[in-house]
Amino acid sequence: MCGIVGYVGHRPALDVVLGGLRRMEYRGYDSAGVAVLDGAGALTVERKAGRLANLEAELDKVGRESITGTAGMGHTRWATHGAPIDRNSHPHRDASQRVAVVHNGIIENFASLRAELEADGVEMASDTDSETAAHLVARAYTDGDTKGDLAASVAAVCRRLEGAFTLVVTHADQPDTIVAARRSSPLVVGVGEGEHFVASDVAAFIEHTREAVELGQDQLVVITREGYEVTDFHGDAAQAKPFTVDWDLSAAEKGGHEYFMLKEIEEQPEALANTLRGHFESGRIILDEQRISDQDLRDVDKVFVVACGSAYHSGLVAKYAIEHWTRLPVEVELASEFRYRDPVLDRDTLVVAVSQSGETADTLEAVRHAREQKARVLAVCNTNGAQIPRESDAVLYTHAGPEIGVASTKAFLAQIAANYLVGLALAQARGTKYPDEVAREFAELEAMPAAVQKVLSTVDQVRDLGRRIADSKAVLFLGRHVGFPVALEGALKLKELAYMHAEGFAAGELKHGPIALIEDGLPVVVVMPSPKGRAVLHSKLVSNISEIQARGARTIVIAEEGDETVRPFADELIEVPAVPTLLQPLVSTVPLQVLAAEIARTRGYDVDKPRNLAKSVTVE
Ligand code: AGP
Repeated sequence: MCGIVGYVGHRPALDVVLGGLRRMEYRGYDSAGVAVLDGAGALTVERKAGRLANLEAELDKVGRESITGTAGMGHTRWATHGAPIDRNSHPHRDASQRVAVVHNGIIENFASLRAELEADGVEMASDTDSETAAHLVARAYTDGDTKGDLAASVAAVCRRLEGAFTLVVTHADQPDTIVAARRSSPLVVGVGEGEHFVASDVAAFIEHTREAVELGQDQLVVITREGYEVTDFHGDAAQAKPFTVDWDLSAAEKGGHEYFMLKEIEEQPEALANTLRGHFESGRIILDEQRISDQDLRDVDKVFVVACGSAYHSGLVAKYAIEHWTRLPVEVELASEFRYRDPVLDRDTLVVAVSQSGETADTLEAVRHAREQKARVLAVCNTNGAQIPRESDAVLYTHAGPEIGVASTKAFLAQIAANYLVGLALAQARGTKYPDEVAREFAELEAMPAAVQKVLSTVDQVRDLGRRIADSKAVLFLGRHVGFPVALEGALKLKELAYMHAEGFAAGELKHGPIALIEDGLPVVVVMPSPKGRAVLHSKLVSNISEIQARGARTIVIAEEGDETVRPFADELIEVPAVPTLLQPLVSTVPLQVLAAEIARTRGYDVDKPRNLAKSVTVE
């Protein structure tokens, strides 16, 4: 989720652009860069890995007073393709150094475009997908049917790109013009007096103007000092949506929400879609920097998943799918326990290390232990170039974007999806799933962003419930099968956000002790399976609910919409869309995230920064 800002107006572009990048630092990034058009046909680009301060130091070194001009753009990069180093930082330029491009998103067909360009003699200067756009625009502008027309050249390139992108393009020949375009990635225009902006979010320009225009899917905009013009990718005029920003800067950073976590809960459909994007081509699952051959995958005779906290719960969820798809034994281990129990590992063991930050010390030490034992390690990570992927044999990146809230939400759902991709890749390599079965499972995964979006449209009921039970002294969570790790995750959310005693159980364990905890009015959340899926689990769980209701529990039931069997046993019924059994955690977790956040808000706690917790636990 990179930060982008473009400006054409009457002020020094460098100052405006750097100011915009500073206001988007909250998005998290690992490199930054700027491009400024000086009006005399020169295009200056400076970029640097690391924090904005590194870029500013670079600008001081070259003499920022020499970088004049009233048109320019900037970028803070959250690395997806290519490590976070200088040459992979944006803006990217073509060989002539007269076209500069910044990009947010994932160009899925960049490999074929890159091959085409290299076959034409283009020498790529980075490992990124974004650089291909710079060369393609330059080629279209220089010798295509769109020669000399920057907007038409950008539009022609956009028609060839697959995937998600926000592109902002400048050309040294056109010092008073910036062209931007979007597909499945945010882009807004800021409308000022004698100045205009483009940005990935309004935080970049609301100190200058609160009049904005939101571009729609497959739209392109040309901004100049005097105005802006919106078209589709064929050059036909298009309607975009004007709005006035009534948020303050702090709210703007949170997309209008009170907390980042609330925004990140809303970003889960996009996080899922971005994580899945590009991983199924020509009928096959493809992982990122796989570096583990299909033969190696076929040799695997055991899988471990090692992780902590929510990442550990994502492994517990994935265990059901991976074992079902591959018939391989899967052990899910707390990373902090893993290496001290002397696990049985060898070169035919696959260890999947799941970590949002990629810096968690317990998980990193587990990776090191696994590699010492000659096991193959595949990292599932949300942070490009972090220590855990660097020390693993292979990596599959989740693309949830930076997760600012300490309590994991969108990263957790993205981890489940990524773990499932690993399972499908194993099943595909081992032949335990036919290609059409793999395709069907992937298609069902691709339908999940829409299912999660549907859940998000109904969570007001959950917020209301959160306010009503906020003064409870404890909440229990029950589930069976894949609902059991969801119960654990729901309990963890409530513990870490509302500092409330909460515990998740396998519902079958109730009668082995925990049912003694049930007392009058105690809220108990039950995560129901579909009545159409594993019917036996559904009926057993209905029995469990009646047992606890008979003892006074206040039953809060997460159930598939239309599940009338469970309705009589639910004091509160929260309905989620019907999805395949193995995918239910992706929809049933969301109400539990919202519930915990609302209880914390009601209790007056900081939802983003819970007490005693850090976003990344880099000590054992
Ligand atoms: C989740 O809400 C917690 N913040 C925590 O359990 C987290 O999942 C755990 O620390 C693992 O972090 P990682 O994914 O960055 O390794």
